Amino acid sequence: MFPKLEGEIAPRMKFKGKEVLNWSLNNYLGLANQPEVRKADADAATKWGAAYPMGARMMSGNTDLHEQLENELAEFVSKEKAYLLNYGYQGIMSVIDSLIDRKDVIVYDGECHACIIDALRMHMGKRFVFPHNDIESCEKQLVRAERLSKETGGGILVITEGVFGMTGDMGNLKEIVKLKDKFQFRLLVDDAHGFGTMGKTGAGSGEEQGVQDQIDLYFSTFAKSMASIGAFIAGDAKVILYLKYNMRSQIFAKALPLIMVEGALKRLDLLKNRPEFKENLWKIVHALQNGLKEKGFSIGTTNSPVTPVVLNGTVGEAATLSKDLRENYNIFCSVVIYPVVPKGMIILRLIPTAVHSIEDVVETIAAFEAIKEKLNSGYYKTTELAASFGE
Ligand SMILES: Cc1ncc(COP(=O)(O)O)c(C=O)c1O
Repeated sequence: MFPKLEGEIAPRMKFKGKEVLNWSLNNYLGLANQPEVRKADADAATKWGAAYPMGARMMSGNTDLHEQLENELAEFVSKEKAYLLNYGYQGIMSVIDSLIDRKDVIVYDGECHACIIDALRMHMGKRFVFPHNDIESCEKQLVRAERLSKETGGGILVITEGVFGMTGDMGNLKEIVKLKDKFQFRLLVDDAHGFGTMGKTGAGSGEEQGVQDQIDLYFSTFAKSMASIGAFIAGDAKVILYLKYNMRSQIFAKALPLIMVEGALKRLDLLKNRPEFKENLWKIVHALQNGLKEKGFSIGTTNSPVTPVVLNGTVGEAATLSKDLRENYNIFCSVVIYPVVPKGMIILRLIPTAVHSIEDVVETIAAFEAIKEKLNSGYYKTTELAASFGE
């Protein structure tokens, strides 16, 4: 827990003094250390310092650059307007909180990110969950939601994700939007992992599935493909205008610093105009996912760059395996265990990027074969660390 990786953000970093091959970069397109990006970040830091702008957007924190970035983002994701959010997590909580009141009903996918779940916790009205990507159940929940909203006079908001960050499968947006023929609802999509990686132009999962125009509110963070901090929400002009005046986490917080804003403008420019970054990403994704499948690994239902390697074992075995992987095979990736996944399941989560190489893929698959053999032979059960979990 709380491991310290040292060195520049890159596939090879230092962990406990040794070089490791890192699959947790959150830098899909490799923009973090792209020279033009680093220069834009450095120039913005020199020009503005970290303090600028002075306050919240509504008070003394608005600038032409914030608005320019919003206009460019809106155009890129084919929406009328966009608005910047300081962080994705608190931003999307405020989007949901300000759009919904106690009369409204929320219908959501059960595997939505914690920030959506936290927004639901603030909701005073009803919410109905459907099991992950289960469209039949989504429809049943919409029947209940419709009945209730007729009584209350409220509306219905459906929330899902473009790409689910743990399993890598896309939200079934195509099927969800078909339900708009039968029910009246608005759709909010968190596309943190899809923005920049999915769709012909990188505009995300809606573009990939040909339904971007049916997404009423499109959200993404800058924390993944944009390799930065910040986020945005995009949609119809009147809804975005309403959000600007109502999102408490933005109204009562200092605006996104200009270093981030200028940096985001440069990143967006490269994301839009340099397709080779996305092409490199997908070259690595295909090599990694096909290579793992050829060696008999299960990678679940992913259809995005997120690559979960599904193994069976206890939490103690997972702890020992991950220590072995990091310290003896020099591979660093996230390990997902109970209660995030069911008891007995271990997921090694790999996030490929445009800056990984085919050699990195080959080395990783060889290491995974070795640790899988040890896991299956019961080797990890016998360690002191595994025993300390008392399972
Ligand atoms: C699906 C999803 N939504 C929202 C967030 C939160 O975004 P941020 O890191 O900008 O707070 C994350 C994590 O970054 C995420 O994976």
